[in-house]
Amino acid sequence: MPVIVAIDGPSGTGKSSTSKAVAAQLGLSYLDTGAQYRAITWWMVTNGIDTADPFAIASAAGKPEIVSGTDPEKPAITVDGIDVSGPIREQDVTSKVSAVSAVPEVRTRITELQRAIAGSAVTGIVVEGRDIGTTVLPDADLKVFLTASPEARAARRSGELEGADLHATREALVKRDAADSSRKTSPLAKADDAVEVDTTDLTLQQVIECVVTLVEEKR
Ligand code: C5P
Repeated sequence: MPVIVAIDGPSGTGKSSTSKAVAAQLGLSYLDTGAQYRAITWWMVTNGIDTADPFAIASAAGKPEIVSGTDPEKPAITVDGIDVSGPIREQDVTSKVSAVSAVPEVRTRITELQRAIAGSAVTGIVVEGRDIGTTVLPDADLKVFLTASPEARAARRSGELEGADLHATREALVKRDAADSSRKTSPLAKADDAVEVDTTDLTLQQVIECVVTLVEEKR
């Protein structure tokens, strides 16, 4: 039976690095759902859709074709055939993604894609996001919720971004998490049956080992 692993949590908790490493180590597929929300946001921005207008977003939500790679070693993502792996990490997309992903039509569309990908994974899949354990895959074999202090999360994020200012990064993260946690449709939340792992004082390697052990216990 394929094993389905849901890894949720706010930004900068090490979700992506952990999820990719766990999937690679255990021979599972990997899905970055944040990249899908970033990709649809990139498409809205590129096509001149006003990202402050939920009605405009809702009516365009079905238009872009988003294809997610599931190889943990190179998880590319394309929109209408264009590789957007780089552009979706840019500041303009990051600042608009919470507004776009709060629109219910966007969530319905992306959730369908996510379930189809998870359902076709042969050996199993590690899916990372904000609402995977609560909404997208409520029957996942293992649900992990990663947390870390805002200071630790900002320090990790600024380490990834060249020339980033620690204070500004912290403010931006806290703002994005507040928006993601307070939206009406499937907010960022820990599922009741998720295992919470506080990564503040753990190395990435320790977090990976912890999650690998949890998956092996379920197999
Ligand atoms: O994980 P990442 O920081 O790339 O996610 C970008 C944004 O996508 C989040 O801030 C959130 O607004 C949205 N997202 C979401 N649900 C998910 C994954 C990401 O709403 N499952």
